[in-house]
Amino acid sequence: MWRRGWPWLALALLFATAACGTQVSIAGCRVQANSTFCTVCAAGNFRSVRNKAATCTQCSSQLPNCVECSSSSTCTLCRARFRRTPAGQCERCRGQGCLLCRSDRSKCDVCAGGWVLGAQQQCIPCVGCAGGACTPDGSCPGNCKWGFGKVDGRCVKCAGKDCANCDGDPGVCQACAALGLGVVDGRCQYCLVEGCDVCNSDLTTCRRCSYGYYRRGGRCVQCAEGCLEGYCNPDGTCRQCKPTSGLVNGTCQQCFDYTNCKNCDGNRYVCVECLRHRGLYNEDGTCRDCFDSDIYDTCEWCDLDPSTCSKCGEYDYMSRNQRCISCSTVTPYCLQCSNARMCTKCWDGYLLQNGRCLPCSAGCTDCNRGLATCDACDIYYVLDTAVQRCVPL
Ligand SMILES: *[C@@H]1O[C@H](CO)[C@@H](O)[C@H](O)[C@H]1NC(C)=O
Ligand SMILES: *[C@@H]1O[C@H](CO)[C@@H](O)[C@H](O)[C@H]1NC(C)=O
Repeated sequence: MWRRGWPWLALALLFATAACGTQVSIAGCRVQANSTFCTVCAAGNFRSVRNKAATCTQCSSQLPNCVECSSSSTCTLCRARFRRTPAGQCERCRGQGCLLCRSDRSKCDVCAGGWVLGAQQQCIPCVGCAGGACTPDGSCPGNCKWGFGKVDGRCVKCAGKDCANCDGDPGVCQACAALGLGVVDGRCQYCLVEGCDVCNSDLTTCRRCSYGYYRRGGRCVQCAEGCLEGYCNPDGTCRQCKPTSGLVNGTCQQCFDYTNCKNCDGNRYVCVECLRHRGLYNEDGTCRDCFDSDIYDTCEWCDLDPSTCSKCGEYDYMSRNQRCISCSTVTPYCLQCSNARMCTKCWDGYLLQNGRCLPCSAGCTDCNRGLATCDACDIYYVLDTAVQRCVPL
């Protein structure tokens, strides 16, 4: 996710909030009444009150593998690979590869990557299956990953060097993994054609040419220099050139003003399209820096008038005086907005509500259905769909 312009205003807001509440000095406390009394503990702590003092203790110090608890003896959320017993303790799931076992430590509900849930709710290894989805008996319904071949329904690793696919027999290669190789007698060998990525088993005719080459007969013909990938004609001439160059009489020439001009098709001295943060002057076909690009770097184009932005970047909005302002500087954690007050899309892990962005629960990257309902977790968590929460790994 592109999080440009880290919200300085959001940082300022955070400090301002901290400053107007009481300074937090009690360990594990989130909201503090005075120096000895904590009113709300931070997540992962439980509160104990004794003689007009209230302190916080980390759950895991009293309850091994516990993430959240209500007291020193009652865990409410265990780490992944552990289940919560009715007595409020955390016990390890049985068997390798199990991430969540809700009702019984021997019956797995969710297996880790590279494993699949079997008929007896055990985790069965599943390697090399594209998409990672094996059937409960361990066979792969779709294709195997690169470097694997399908043998009796399962994916097995190919034996040969540089082999991408060995369906049927791990010792007989069907396709090679590196460019410039062809299969000869089940082994990968170097092609003998210049500019060839994939050759036939005779090694002298090409099936797919390298970048910048075009196939003609069994050979590879080099395309006009500077041609954009995929825009080469069969005769080697070019249809579209790489950025900062132009197509002049079928060849690519660098634009005269290549630091500002993106496309100068037809005449290398006359620009047709400028690079970002610049404006095009059609009268003479030159590009000029946008006025505010040095300071904010947010104006995409300012065609015709360098002091007036004509298009802002996708993470900015245009103010009334046609300047570009980053959405996250006015609304913390906002990715895209239509104006200063109305955020239309938040960063991942934030919920859009009334034009503002509220943080999802810990580890949650998608709570678009509501703060208490998580639909996706980051890589250090597993989603428990029974409670729509993220459980730390
Ligand atoms: C701290 O706050 C608690 C709860 O408001 C109160 O009972 C206690 O007397 C206070 N202690 C001090 C030292 O002010
Ligand atoms: C393109 O090629 C033609 C014929 O060779 C030539 O007359 C013409 O001047 C060329 N144009 C440019 C822009 O180089």
